[in-house]
Amino acid sequence: MQSSNQSIMTYESLEELIEAAARRFSAASTDAISRFGRFNAVLAGGSTPRPLYEKLAAEPFRSQIDWSEVHLFLGDERCVPPTHQESNYLMVKTALTEHIPIPEENIHRIPGELGAEAAADHYQKELQNLFKGCSTPAFDFVLLGMGDDGHTASLFPGAAAIHDEKRWVVGYYVNKLDAWRITLTPPVLNAARQIVFLIAGGGKAVRLHEILRGPFQPDHLPAQAIQPTSGQIVWMLDKHAAANL
Ligand code: 6PG
Repeated sequence: MQSSNQSIMTYESLEELIEAAARRFSAASTDAISRFGRFNAVLAGGSTPRPLYEKLAAEPFRSQIDWSEVHLFLGDERCVPPTHQESNYLMVKTALTEHIPIPEENIHRIPGELGAEAAADHYQKELQNLFKGCSTPAFDFVLLGMGDDGHTASLFPGAAAIHDEKRWVVGYYVNKLDAWRITLTPPVLNAARQIVFLIAGGGKAVRLHEILRGPFQPDHLPAQAIQPTSGQIVWMLDKHAAANL
């Protein structure tokens, strides 16, 4: 999986990785706001991005970013209410949004408490309303993580959602988790101007090597389905995650 719009950036420590990701997010927000008047960013769940969100909520980033023009979305969600400890919305709220001057209406949460399919329909309608007239919404920035099994967002190995070309948001039952998830689909993620994978830790090294250097098998390694249509993709890694590359 190599292409000219792909770059791989490796950092010595987790601190440097998080600092660089925060600078990239801030620069992307400045660029999008000056060009389009707003910055539409999709955030990831999981544990890796939490320190990034905390960094963005602290100075100098808190003041550098014009939060009034930032719209935050989620790439995936669990079927839980927004107050549940497994909620990605809650994680983003406690790490970032409750500490920054962002208007409440700029935070676009997936209503997981409605159940997977209803939540997906609801979010798809919300996106259609916000991205009126677009065949696929083009977010300015999509942040993704990668699970040990090669999943990204809630695109898990073997899921039909990996190949869904029609819907923007899908809710489905993930057998291996014995749980329902809601996720943006590859056409939406791939249409972003910039896709950033944030990956840290030696536990990710073998899978990451398979994803970046191995044969193309997105059913087995869903992160391989993420290939920008016309934007760029940046793999931001700490040295442990990058150890096998
Ligand atoms: C989620 C995610 C998921 C995550 C990976 C990596 O809701 O859990 O969006 O795709 O990014 O599982 O998670 P970690 O950062 O915890 O390793």
